[in-house]
Amino acid sequence: MELILLGPPGAGKGTQSKLLEARYGVAQISTGDMLRAEVKAGSPIGQEAKKIMDAGGLVSDDLIIRMIGERISRPECENGFILDGFPRTVPQAEALDKLLHETKVDLDAVIELKVDEVVLVERISGRFTCAKCGTGYHDTFKQPKISGVCDICGSHEFTRRADDKAETVHARLEAYNAQTAPILPYYRAKHRLFSVDGMAEMDEVERQIEAVLREVGVPEPTASA
Ligand code: AP5
Repeated sequence: MELILLGPPGAGKGTQSKLLEARYGVAQISTGDMLRAEVKAGSPIGQEAKKIMDAGGLVSDDLIIRMIGERISRPECENGFILDGFPRTVPQAEALDKLLHETKVDLDAVIELKVDEVVLVERISGRFTCAKCGTGYHDTFKQPKISGVCDICGSHEFTRRADDKAETVHARLEAYNAQTAPILPYYRAKHRLFSVDGMAEMDEVERQIEAVLREVGVPEPTASA
């Protein structure tokens, strides 16, 4: 399965791509996660990216395209992948087409998660993650079962993203509308674009995505995946 999840900040791309990764046994590739790992490591890429991410802008196409080219060629992507947060500009979408053409891989679908802007701000400002295993939570929509304890690994430490402040969220939404939304017509013209209601409950969004995957002929996951 080769899938793109598209949508504005807070639309649920990370939430849904992790669910799909577990269910279909394919790699989730999040350019945001890759960049945050570089920032944490203090690498030259991380230092360059941090200022831009903290301001809510987009990191350069050249850098992102190089990162993705290297990642997609890894053995863990042989069974397929879900792209989360990439492509984000028309040049990135064109570079991905070239990469897929070279590796003789076809995209199954580009799925847009549609969510109203006011809901996005609420979702992002309430988001936190387990500092140890990265499981995502939300102050209102998804609290850990036991307050202050991660459901998955039992850790008591949680973090909030530096770019989840209200003023940065507005800059991120502007970047989405100006630079990322133009790739929707790009994929519509290629008959690859599907939209699902990202305002629905998380499991309903998952069902809608799975319905699209069935429609485009992605095989049902095996029990072991
Ligand atoms: P990135 O990490 O990709 O962030 P983003 O696109 O802004 O998206 P988010 O991770 O904020 O949201 P999401 O859609 O994954 O939502 P989530 O599932 O967490 O990018 C960060 C930065 O890196 C960018 O600003 C840019 O600077 C740089 N960057 C990254 N990729 C780049 C690229 N390709 N080119 C250039 N620069 C790049 O959900 C949000 C919250 O809502 C969670 O708390 C969740 O629990 C909750 N939630 C999810 N679904 C539902 C639901 N259905 N109902 C209720 N709550 C829900």
